Amino acid sequence: MKIVILGSGKGSNAYAILKSSSKKQLGNTIIQGIFSDYKNSGILSHGKDFGIHSEYIHAGDSYVLKEPFQDNWISKIKQLNPDLIVLAGFMKIIKEKFISAFNKKVINLHPSLLPSFPGLNSIKQAYEKKVKITGCTVHWVNETVDGGEIIAQEAVRIMNYDTLHTLTKKVHTAEHILLPSVIKGLSDGEIDFPS
Ligand code: GAR
Repeated sequence: MKIVILGSGKGSNAYAILKSSSKKQLGNTIIQGIFSDYKNSGILSHGKDFGIHSEYIHAGDSYVLKEPFQDNWISKIKQLNPDLIVLAGFMKIIKEKFISAFNKKVINLHPSLLPSFPGLNSIKQAYEKKVKITGCTVHWVNETVDGGEIIAQEAVRIMNYDTLHTLTKKVHTAEHILLPSVIKGLSDGEIDFPS
């Protein structure tokens, strides 16, 4: 299963995938490339450290990946012919044309138990609401922001002594386990691709 990872930031989740892959823990997964809309992002340095094709692609200033940038992203990714696109902290909204260009085989990681706390600052929203359990979700991407079919979730308990900082660390730790496990499940055939 050939995958391409897209991200905008630090890349700790891409790093977790790269590490699992280097330990042969992702079944038959091959990481074909990493693309970012930020030139000096951590995700691109992690990719390069692991010898993976890692490239910045301009995506414009809008929070939506729009024309003419969208076509360039589609064609660059298509050159690698991936079976799955993994959004690991990719902060642009992806529209229908992009999703269908890859036959709906696009997954996203989100730092809350969807459908609770979609959008931005999800960990902070959960912390401020004083919910007792939050977590992270991996879902198929559709036109609705953070609204596609849920594939897997990991719960994180919020304790009275947690601060926003400790909670953020706990959610990220859960993400670093959940996302590689979903990729492995897809590669092993334990999780179905959309038809
Ligand atoms: C992760 O917490 C991921 O869930 C979040 O961005 C972070 C990326 O961290 N994604 C979203 O909020 C998407 N809605 P990373 O760059 O260290 O992997």
